[in-house]
Amino acid sequence: MLAVILSGGSGTRLWPLSREAYPKQFLPVVSEESLLAETITRGLGCAPSARVMAITNEDHRFVVAAHLHELADKKTDGIILEPVGRNTAPAIALAALAAAESDPEELLLIMPSDHVLRNQEAFAEAVSVGARAAENGKLVTFGVVPASPHTGYGYIRAGDMAEGFAPVEAFVEKPDEATAQSYLDQGGYYWNSGMFLFRADRYLEELGKHNPQMLEACRAAFAGKQSDMDFVRVDREAFEACPDDSIDYAVMEKTQDAVVVPLDAGWSDVGSWSALWEIQPRDKDGNVCRGDVITEDVTGSYIHSEGRLIAALGISDHVIVETDDVVLVADRNRVQDVKKLVAQVKAQG
Ligand code: GDD
Ligand code: MG
Repeated sequence: MLAVILSGGSGTRLWPLSREAYPKQFLPVVSEESLLAETITRGLGCAPSARVMAITNEDHRFVVAAHLHELADKKTDGIILEPVGRNTAPAIALAALAAAESDPEELLLIMPSDHVLRNQEAFAEAVSVGARAAENGKLVTFGVVPASPHTGYGYIRAGDMAEGFAPVEAFVEKPDEATAQSYLDQGGYYWNSGMFLFRADRYLEELGKHNPQMLEACRAAFAGKQSDMDFVRVDREAFEACPDDSIDYAVMEKTQDAVVVPLDAGWSDVGSWSALWEIQPRDKDGNVCRGDVITEDVTGSYIHSEGRLIAALGISDHVIVETDDVVLVADRNRVQDVKKLVAQVKAQG
């Protein structure tokens, strides 16, 4: 099994801690280790023979390489560098082409690098259930019981469960809120966790069926690759010509051959500061405090200091994040709008 770690996004939802130059996968968000480090360890922990490959961009190649050297050592199959971002469907195609060179039936465990998973044992168990289906050619998704009509996720309608997985009857990427709510009301739906498991050859086949132009562009880009130590650089011109799309729209919404394995392992994609507050142990007043923080009559808040002492008094349901150059103070129920502040900061230059 090859854990393919996707590290291409530049999420700013955990601003001011995450920045374009330093997205959240490189930050120690819930433990002393970065989310990327946790992902590598989690991937390697799924099977004794597991190996790991990363796919990222030029800007982040050294930080990703340092992580792999430290945590995967000889269990690494290198780092693919994309000259431009074309979203996850082409990124995964490059990884599949690389894996298929030595074994077309290699199982690829696709892992976003910026998620939190609390229960490694439950995750490894779900992966081993999924592996049985993937070996038979299925494209495996891992479904999380939805807690709200979140519009940032894919929704999976599951058929009848047997042997730990069910056929995917429908996959809908990022529906609007009314549609998401109707799925919750109907029941039988899962959130797509964004992790996948399939054979390299089966992904390439499905991509070729539903998006032949994308597969051709990826094949051309991979054919023109150049290797430099751990790094594999694909051909810029060919990859620039590749259509831009996510695996969810390009393959998972269209394939007839997907299954879902339910996942109950304390998963979160840490999409906001409030998500971080929700998934972590809180003190008796319902606060999560990291770094140098003192509180008096503070409840329901997430308070994070990178350096200076934060002293908070008489507030509820706040997010306070202190960094060298920015202090964020927000209503905990409004943190999805942090992007509006990021836009203002950008506009100021
Ligand atoms: N290498 C590479 N290149 N990685 C990429 C690229 C790219 O062009 N674009 C995104 N990624 C990485 C991101 O860093 C992240 O780790 C992962 O791929 C998923 O991309 P996101 O952009 O975070 O996707 P999303 O959160 O909007 O949606 C996906 O995840 C949800 C769960 O968190 C979908 O799979 C949804 O269906 C799913 O519910
Ligand atoms: Mg995401």
